Amino acid sequence: MTLDDTQAYRRLDREGMGALIEGLPAQCRAAWEQALTFPLPHEYRGARRIVVAGMGGSAIGGDLAADLQAFDGYAPVSVHRDYGLPPLVDQDTLVIASSYSGHTEETLSSAEEAWARGARVLAMTTGGKLARRCQDRGTAVFPVPLKGPPRTALGYSLFPLLAFLQRLGVARDRAPDVGEAIAEMERLAGGLHPSAATAGNPAKALAERIGERAVVTLGAQHLTSVARRWKCQIAENSKAWAFWEALPEAHHNAIEAMGEQSVNRDGFFVVLLRGDAYSPRMARRSDLTAEALERAGIPHQVVSAAGESALAQMMTAVLMGDWVSYYLALLRGVDPTALPIIDWLKERMAEG
Ligand code: PA5
Repeated sequence: MTLDDTQAYRRLDREGMGALIEGLPAQCRAAWEQALTFPLPHEYRGARRIVVAGMGGSAIGGDLAADLQAFDGYAPVSVHRDYGLPPLVDQDTLVIASSYSGHTEETLSSAEEAWARGARVLAMTTGGKLARRCQDRGTAVFPVPLKGPPRTALGYSLFPLLAFLQRLGVARDRAPDVGEAIAEMERLAGGLHPSAATAGNPAKALAERIGERAVVTLGAQHLTSVARRWKCQIAENSKAWAFWEALPEAHHNAIEAMGEQSVNRDGFFVVLLRGDAYSPRMARRSDLTAEALERAGIPHQVVSAAGESALAQMMTAVLMGDWVSYYLALLRGVDPTALPIIDWLKERMAEG
């Protein structure tokens, strides 16, 4: 198929994934505004640790918030993707249980553990068992109003966290960066949209270049978890193998697989995320990675994030990745929304 054939969009994207990706900038704005006025319980202030518990599409917002906190040098946020909670969680910890559906058993288990340890708890969800258990215990719930698959609700899993962090006094006022991130996403939106022809649409062009290959995405510093987002989106939307790596760690192992002696050299496509906010040493590492890939003849592309602030660079790189994963789905002839294997797994796990 060709990505400029509008009929194919109607045939394959029956549940409107494209419209949800298109709506991401507006969603980020709505989520931010909702979170600024959300009645945040006073006792959350003074928490010495913040742990976001969630899985998959409901965890990635926590990763992005954690990267931003680390990049800006503010109080650390950690993300827990498992049952229970790590030992360090205690009464001085704020545990934010993030589950779009409110039915994810790992996240429910984390919330139960948080209550058992006397931690301060906040939930972010559309409802489900999590909302009901919060109601029974008098725990605050930030309501997610978006209808769609969890991974499309990234605005609601990230921007409220940013608002809460500043309201709790553990981050600076990020309103200017939020404004810039949304404006940059809006500026790029038209050129990434299905209505923009492949010749002038970098997301379509990159999807065409990737073709049938598995994707490895590399990011560093504030773009580390953006690389993970690309992997998750390509796996779920495109139903394709994707992996992510972070610099500088990849320079101590994975880089050998990108060398001239690499086996399956043509089986992979490497996407190197690049942001102007990288430190000079990291920018040098990124350049050297591109040079190694070039020398080895491994298909790759540098994707440069737009904007000045770290947040704008993160969100423009996320938007690009979301569209690339969408176009890869169409090129591979699959519905970008349906998750038959994940649904099957969840059903089987619920059986016993
Ligand atoms: O994108 C998805 O649908 C998944 O990764 C889900 O986010 C994940 O299974 C967790 O479900 P929930 O987001 O409802 O907690």
